[in-house]
Amino acid sequence: MKKIALSLILATGVIFAAEANATKAEANATKAETNATAAKAAPAAGDLVAKGKAVFAKCQSCHGDKAQNKALGKSEVIAGWDAAKTEEALKGYKAGTRNKHGMGGLMKTQVSSLSDEDIKAVAAYISSLKK
Ligand code: HEC
Repeated sequence: MKKIALSLILATGVIFAAEANATKAEANATKAETNATAAKAAPAAGDLVAKGKAVFAKCQSCHGDKAQNKALGKSEVIAGWDAAKTEEALKGYKAGTRNKHGMGGLMKTQVSSLSDEDIKAVAAYISSLKK
């Protein structure tokens, strides 16, 4: 009887140790992921703006080369818009849920081929333009 109790205690100890190691491994994995995310987010803000400028080339005909125009006399002037606001608007057009001035369909065709990263970049560029 004593022997069984002893081996039970020993076994429990081994399980605890194994669990502690597993938790440690998980914590390390999370740390590695965090590092990877930081590295991905790292491309300097300047790079993002430069990329956004390239994306904006196809927007200029309506919004103006510095985003200073009301596109087709309909949209708001978007120069200097907060990046988060632009991103939200563009994602809304892409999803087909935004139609602020009755021309959401037209904007949908403009942004449908843009990736999330393109949208982020062009939003950063627009926010860098003077109001
Ligand atoms: C063919 C003309 C045209 C092009 C090209 C165009 N837009 Fe637009 N844009 C519009 C119109 C018209 C609206 C108003 C849509 C609506 O009714 O909500 C608009 C709306 C917007 C809005 C929201 C403004 C508001 O008043 O709510 C943003 C942001 C925007 N466009 C960004 C872009 C970006 C970025 C590109 C390039 C990828 C682009 N547009 C290309 C015509 C254009």
